[in-house]
Amino acid sequence: MKFDDLHHEEGPSIVTDLPGPKSKGILKRQLEIEGSALSYPKSIPVVMEEGKGATIKDIDGNIFIDFFGGAGVLAVGHCNPVIIEAVREQQDKITHTLDFPTEIRLTLIEKIREIMPGKLKNNVKIQFGGPTGSDAVESAIKLAKYYTNRHSLIAFEGGYHGQTAGAMTLTSGSFYKEKYLPMIPEVHFVPYAYCYRCPFHKNRDTCDLECAAFYEHILDDPHSGVVKPAASIIEPIQGEGGSIVPPKNYLKNIENISREYEVPIIFDEIQSGFCRTGKMFSFEHSGAIPDIITLSKALGGGFPLSAIAYHEDLDVWKKASHIGTFRGNVTAMAAASASIDFMLENNLAEHAKMIGSKMLKRFEKIEKDSDIIGEVRGKGLMLGIEIVENKETKKPSSKLASAIRTESFKRGVLIEIGGHYDNVARFLPPLVITKELAEAGTTVIEEVIANLQQ
Ligand SMILES: Cc1ncc(COP(=O)(O)O)c(C=O)c1O
Repeated sequence: MKFDDLHHEEGPSIVTDLPGPKSKGILKRQLEIEGSALSYPKSIPVVMEEGKGATIKDIDGNIFIDFFGGAGVLAVGHCNPVIIEAVREQQDKITHTLDFPTEIRLTLIEKIREIMPGKLKNNVKIQFGGPTGSDAVESAIKLAKYYTNRHSLIAFEGGYHGQTAGAMTLTSGSFYKEKYLPMIPEVHFVPYAYCYRCPFHKNRDTCDLECAAFYEHILDDPHSGVVKPAASIIEPIQGEGGSIVPPKNYLKNIENISREYEVPIIFDEIQSGFCRTGKMFSFEHSGAIPDIITLSKALGGGFPLSAIAYHEDLDVWKKASHIGTFRGNVTAMAAASASIDFMLENNLAEHAKMIGSKMLKRFEKIEKDSDIIGEVRGKGLMLGIEIVENKETKKPSSKLASAIRTESFKRGVLIEIGGHYDNVARFLPPLVITKELAEAGTTVIEEVIANLQQ
């Protein structure tokens, strides 16, 4: 298999207590000197030293299978040699140019335009943001406000868009913002198609997409309390909200309604883009077409980069109306360009689809014998298992989900947790993961869940 030599050979291999002796000291010191908002190492106490493909060696010599993938960043794997070579070559030339053109900047813009589907192909403008996904979201809403001369925004329940003020306001989870009031004004939330917990108490197979109809009602009814918005922003497949794949026709419906009411629609592809779900962009599963697309995470091939792609009609910026020192980092652009080539040359989308469907099938089997799995779901390698106390009541169990994360870690598999109630075990492995590593990791998850049920 073509990705075989990208990984550490022996994973998973746990050779010390966890955290290991060297890791312990470093983790302790980190807690002493770094700000207390630290998150991941508090749940997964590991000191990573050498990432290869879909595996990570820690500083004590333990090797983990990475089902976490840097929260979706590492589509082409840790330290993919093709990317590293491109980065080294670029770093010998120039590393910072503000928004002055370089060959690599233009090459990357051409490539992003070229991979756009349907009528967007070679028909979008690209605007680089600051280095992280939240910056792309800020650019997208600012552009929509400039374009429409309106100010209100619609976002969707369960959506995650980042931690800068605008992106955080559009994020539905109240945990991040309860101490940060006031948010940016006039942001309204409508339900997403979260069928397992449908707020309209409908069944996925027989419903009339009441959630989409509600979105239409909000736009249509002059007394809905929502002034005509500058844009609506939606994840075509929700990530942090719990790997939620909406039913067929949902996204197309949302697009149609948005068009009918002349509301630009932003698809946030920051987590779901770049082959993750078995297509270059996850909205390609739906036939829907956005006005603006936000890009980051896997865009940079492991290096921080964000951008928006938008229909040329929306290009209303005046000179310098959206500036920033690191608005496009040249090193990350070289990585991004090499990463897109790698994805296309190796048909990474197809590989993600193939491995993802095998994993999903196994999870579905595990679900049948399990009392604590409410639902397994996902597309490509964006997968999730919703954990409940009891299948009948569907009472969410973040405690069990967090136990799955801890026990998986102890057995050498790194996973993430998300979902409305922090009760969804989430899997976002590097897309270069082999069938063998995916199977080995899934077996660990299976054993962990079986043990927790006893
Ligand atoms: C869909 C989506 N949008 C935006 C963001 C924010 O990106 P960043 O954390 O790089 O700011 C994330 C991060 O997880 C995301 O999943």
